Amino acid sequence: MNVMDSHFFEGAFVEAGLSAAVGAQDADLIILNTCSVREHAENKVLSRLGVLTRLKEVNTSLKIVVAGCMAQRMGGEITRKFPAVDLVLGTGRIADIVALTTAKGGAGCMVCTDGMGDAGPERYPYARAGAAHAYVCAMRGCDNFCAYCIVPKVRGRQVSRPAAKIIAEIEALCADGVKVVTLLGQNISAWGRDLGEGRGLAFLLEAVHEVAGLEWIKFLTCHPRDTDTAVFEAMRDLPKVASGIHLPAQAGSDFVLRAMKRGYTRREYLSKVAQLRDFVPQASIVGDFIVGFPGEREADFNDTLSLLEETGFRGSFVFKYSPRPGTAAAHLADDVPMDVKARRNNDLLALQRDVSLAQNRSFIGRRVRVFVEGPSRKNPDELTGRTLGDEVVIFAGSRREAGSFAQVDIFDASAAVLFGREVP
Ligand code: 5AD
Ligand code: SF4
Repeated sequence: MNVMDSHFFEGAFVEAGLSAAVGAQDADLIILNTCSVREHAENKVLSRLGVLTRLKEVNTSLKIVVAGCMAQRMGGEITRKFPAVDLVLGTGRIADIVALTTAKGGAGCMVCTDGMGDAGPERYPYARAGAAHAYVCAMRGCDNFCAYCIVPKVRGRQVSRPAAKIIAEIEALCADGVKVVTLLGQNISAWGRDLGEGRGLAFLLEAVHEVAGLEWIKFLTCHPRDTDTAVFEAMRDLPKVASGIHLPAQAGSDFVLRAMKRGYTRREYLSKVAQLRDFVPQASIVGDFIVGFPGEREADFNDTLSLLEETGFRGSFVFKYSPRPGTAAAHLADDVPMDVKARRNNDLLALQRDVSLAQNRSFIGRRVRVFVEGPSRKNPDELTGRTLGDEVVIFAGSRREAGSFAQVDIFDASAAVLFGREVP
């Protein structure tokens, strides 16, 4: 979501006649687009603000903006701690960025965190520089109240964008060369509920599927309870729709799931996965897990290990629990010691590596269609791309192929990537 909002900022400024700076030294305006989901992310921003404060002593006309969830959460506390900050832009006001930063007379420290909800901009002028992939906002905010999560507090209630607006935007993107879109929403599996038209994510996927020129549709993120079989059917029946899903489990024990207020049991999660595999046997499932949630015992953690294995996640993002102010869990004692959190984090990642390796090796000998993203980071003579199920593929090729599709024969795999040869 933040990457998409950053694209929006860049696009809005380019449209207003500004251009991208080469680096911080060269910039007239610096925006830190922030995340509040864990304390660690916030700490990184605070230390960056220290560095930028010194930069501003040299370049006194520099403007510094703090945008996003941390801006919304901390508001004036940011400008009190860092007087060098010119604008604190909350999540409900991102559409106003250009007007607020180019206002004549420089209004000094401004704190704008009064947006009603997080409807987002009406229009998304992306600065995509010819990119063939774009993030598209399907909804903002979240109506769930997972006990650990600050998102509903800083991003507000769920606001879905009407299908017609999403389609119009994707049509325009495709006319401009985009071939792959990722539809975004904190809980995209609940898309449409607030629109009251009785239509959900499966309807949206069907409608987007009709857009001419569009090749692939990915979507993020799904809450297991809100993801219905109609979505799995869409994944099976609509060839442009992703064969992979991000379906965070967060934990594997019923005790922790209940404390987290996730709204499903371990059994319900596993039966959702079984349903998905009924519809799409090859579906690749990616998860999120939090280790060290208050009260998590060793037995609970073992349930998380076994859930990971039983589900056969292709990959997982694992996080150490971080208490967030204003959430339900903030009132619980953060009673799992840091070294235990760290060990559980490592154990879960180690198991995930084994599971990922087994999954990835099952691709060896198969031919996959790959959307080429660009040169690989490790070796500029190699390309990196992704399959429709979001597996990362590395193969030799020319950087001119970026933004196009390739057929690739997979001959090897690691836990993280597939290695292949492009079919001429
Ligand atoms: N502590 C640790 N991880 C968290 N996440 C959300 N809130 C917290 C928290 N307070 C994780 C969840 C979520 C992902 C985006 O971040 O796993 O799915
Ligand atoms: Fe946070 Fe996701 Fe739960 Fe919403 S569904 S409260 S965004 S973890």
